[in-house]
Amino acid sequence: MLHYKKFAVIAILFALTAIGMSAMRPTDDKPPKRNLKVLPKDINHEQLDSVMDSWKAALGVKCNFCHAPSADSTSHHLDFASDAKPEKKMARFMFTMTAKINKKYFKSDKDDQGMMMAAISCKTCHRGSPHPDEVK
Ligand code: HEC
Ligand code: HEC
Repeated sequence: MLHYKKFAVIAILFALTAIGMSAMRPTDDKPPKRNLKVLPKDINHEQLDSVMDSWKAALGVKCNFCHAPSADSTSHHLDFASDAKPEKKMARFMFTMTAKINKKYFKSDKDDQGMMMAAISCKTCHRGSPHPDEVK
């Protein structure tokens, strides 16, 4: 009985290791289709979420202001990797500009996770509007 239990535990450990190893191996059939050009390529899910939430709040818009709808019209999801909307490209340009201002004029730099420690951010100019030139 004891022996059997021990064997079961070892078998489970083996199975878990195998699953863990297959998860670590890059899968050739389904490569992650991420399309990041300005954010750190290794940004994790929580960091990406918080960046997106902050942009959304800074401009007072929804995700679909920058992100195009999915090509599959039966789905109501957004195609986050798509660059179809000019607003998304503008946001990249704005991100680069903001980072440059921080670095050049405020001597801010990246923290140990590769994120900018910002003296100014989108909100500094936008204040809840996509058009800061029109904010009263
Ligand atoms: C002001 C424009 C803007 C808003 C608003 C915005 N995003 Fe984004 N999002 C971008 C840009 C630009 C990128 C690409 C960043 C890059 O190139 O490094 C991106 C990338 C992403 C990605 C990664 C896509 C990929 O290639 O894997 C996800 C997921 C995402 N956004 C989700 C969201 C969600 C969810 C919201 C709403 C809470 C949101 N975004 C709001 C501009 C925006
Ligand atoms: C130094 C001020 C400043 C900062 C910082 C700034 N923006 Fe902007 N942004 C502007 C101005 C001004 C405009 C309007 C430009 C125009 O109309 O040509 C604009 C326009 C935009 C637009 C286009 C809106 C539209 O209707 O097409 C997007 C998207 C945008 N900004 C996103 C961002 C994001 C995301 C950040 C932070 C990463 C950011 N901006 C930081 C000043 C700023």
